[in-house]
Amino acid sequence: MSSDISVKVGSVELKSPIILASGTCNFGHELSEYYDLSILGGLSSKGLTIKPRVGNEGVRVAETAAGMLNSVGLQNPGVDYFIEHDLDYMDSLGCGRIINVAGHSFDDYVAMIEKLDPHKDKIDALEINLSCPNVKAGCMSIGSDPEQIKLIVSALRERTDLPLWIKLTPNVTDIKTMALAAQEGGADAVVLINTLLGMAVDIRTRRPVLRNNTGGYSGPAVKPVAIRMVSECYQVLDIPIIGCGGISNYEDVLEFMIAGASAVEIGTASLVHPTCPVDITEDLKKWSEVSGESLSSLTGTLKLW
Ligand SMILES: Cc1cc2nc3c(=O)[nH]c(=O)nc-3n(C[C@H](O)[C@H](O)[C@H](O)COP(=O)(O)O)c2cc1C
Repeated sequence: MSSDISVKVGSVELKSPIILASGTCNFGHELSEYYDLSILGGLSSKGLTIKPRVGNEGVRVAETAAGMLNSVGLQNPGVDYFIEHDLDYMDSLGCGRIINVAGHSFDDYVAMIEKLDPHKDKIDALEINLSCPNVKAGCMSIGSDPEQIKLIVSALRERTDLPLWIKLTPNVTDIKTMALAAQEGGADAVVLINTLLGMAVDIRTRRPVLRNNTGGYSGPAVKPVAIRMVSECYQVLDIPIIGCGGISNYEDVLEFMIAGASAVEIGTASLVHPTCPVDITEDLKKWSEVSGESLSSLTGTLKLW
């Protein structure tokens, strides 16, 4: 019996549904000391900004009962440095090359895409992070305003043929409206979800644990929220979904795919167990072999009551 764990996200073919989530694998240098990253479907780079960023000061990660909080604040070397020093390395890894882009304004996103597009032979998809809580357009986060989402995605669509994967924030009332706005703007896929906004308090000092006061909540506890959002969006979208949030074993991957994901991203789990993507890949192959089903045939097979 053979196994088939390859998947397609629109035009992008991946040998496996497993992508390392942005911000939890940098550009691959560190994790490649633990295992051969070519087994992966892809790696999503740390979120890049137009200028280098040192990130937030003080305590910026905190463990919680079933996950973690982070307020790293988009620490990265800037897009120019990345293109010069890290893009070739990512290209050499032998897995899907997903470049995550963050901005602080409409103009930032456009300028970033104009810098990355000439390197399209080394990029499989641009993952546009419209979900960073620090990113503001006027008084509102771009990712929580459907008109802003559509405006920015259509502006990027005009400037590149590269697949545009739009990463959305779960910190909204109706995720379907945001996903539909991305689709209307010309997105090739949506990535669901980024972190949930959270806070932890130090009872001795009566101060927030994180120096930034709040942070992004990720890990096993957020999985049901992510699954619900993937399922809701699958029912209304024509474009594929990449599921993300709390995945730590192969059954979590199956769950996301049944709910509607074409591929998935793993973040916090690989900070806890750096080689967990290796085990998950092996387990997915075994599942496909034993069940006789290809993994891609699972997408959206959820039978709602
Ligand atoms: C330390 C840390 C840094 C992150 N940085 C980014 C980032 O730069 N860009 C981005 O789009 N998402 C970032 N994320 C969000 C993850 O990519 C992912 O969407 C989220 O953590 C949920 O998945 P998980 O529960 O598997 O970690 C970060 C997450 C963590 C934990």
